[in-house]
Amino acid sequence: MKNLIILDHPIVQRDVTLLRDKRTPSNQFRAILRRVSALMAFAVTADLPLRSVSVTTPLAKTKGRVLARPVVLVPILRAGLGLVGGFVEVLPDSRVGHIGLYRDEHSLRPVDYYFKVPRNIREAMVFLLDPMLATGGSATAALTYLKNHGAKTLVCVTLVAAPEGVRRVHKEHPEVKIYTCALDKKLNARGYILPGLGDAGDRMFGTE
Ligand code: PRP
Ligand code: URA
Repeated sequence: MKNLIILDHPIVQRDVTLLRDKRTPSNQFRAILRRVSALMAFAVTADLPLRSVSVTTPLAKTKGRVLARPVVLVPILRAGLGLVGGFVEVLPDSRVGHIGLYRDEHSLRPVDYYFKVPRNIREAMVFLLDPMLATGGSATAALTYLKNHGAKTLVCVTLVAAPEGVRRVHKEHPEVKIYTCALDKKLNARGYILPGLGDAGDRMFGTE
């Protein structure tokens, strides 16, 4: 699929397997998510534009390169919070917005409850963070919101995606690249990803 990139690094795949395992308790789940999100951050920033600067080492003046554009991270609450730590380690100058959404368990439609994004979102590279892309309702709503607030360059970063969610994001936001560590089989009748890893927010925060 165009604009779908699967992060197939062996260490990433090992961590996804640990996260899938139902025996992995919350404390380990959070730690693994943080580690794998740093690896994801490294991979999804591979083509960020750079600009030249001059830098003085203890010995001489030389040329260096820095990121040409600011970076804004936007986790979708709650589970997206699990990806922020690793991203901030790799991108310490990022600003962080938040989008609060939960899925209504019957309609599976996203219900919004919080929005706050930094002012520089227009000129920034914006990474939307959420470990789960299921029906795609939450991601498409968040992308629409970010565009309405001026975001021009958006990337969707997710740990596990269902084909249904990928198709929906591609249909409604065709220019947005999706990075994921796994493209799973399908959704079950309750909108959960199969095989997936269960409810990411609940597993992170111990609210199962
Ligand atoms: C989960 C997940 C996504 C959404 C994905 O959040 O973190 O935001 O579901 O499903 P979708 O693609 O069908 O919209 P949830 O609604 O469970 O909220 P939580 O993170 O607060 O648990
Ligand atoms: N949200 C989750 O946390 N997990 C799923 O499988 C689907 C939506």
